[in-house]
Amino acid sequence: MSKLVRFGVSLEQDLLEKFDRLTKERSYTNRSEAFRDLIRQELVGKQWASGGEVAGAITLIYDHHKRELVNKLMDIQHAFGDMIISSQHVHLDHNNCLEIIAVKGSPKEAQKLSDSLKSVKGVKHGTLSMSTTGKNI
Ligand code: NI
Repeated sequence: MSKLVRFGVSLEQDLLEKFDRLTKERSYTNRSEAFRDLIRQELVGKQWASGGEVAGAITLIYDHHKRELVNKLMDIQHAFGDMIISSQHVHLDHNNCLEIIAVKGSPKEAQKLSDSLKSVKGVKHGTLSMSTTGKNI
């Protein structure tokens, strides 16, 4: 962990009040912690935009009864096998499955994998959670 540095920030009063409300709503213990997270969120966004190595999770909700759906999802995942570090399948109910796929690699490929999976017929919902490997942040 690097050394803590204190610095002053000037803000309009109403903006600071909004920030304080947000800090409270999101259960941060203090402004510093909320401010650190905002900065890191921007840095993660920059990592995804600039093409360095990133990490994230794709979640999918689908009906496993749909013909060929499961096979298609498997084929796509095998094609992107290099970047998938883990996957978990949960049987939500009789029809619906939740799949969580953890990825690490290039942002472009992660987006491509996510788009390919989400666009398969029968996938009801899909998200890509864009996160970081934790390095350089
Ligand atoms: Ni299932």
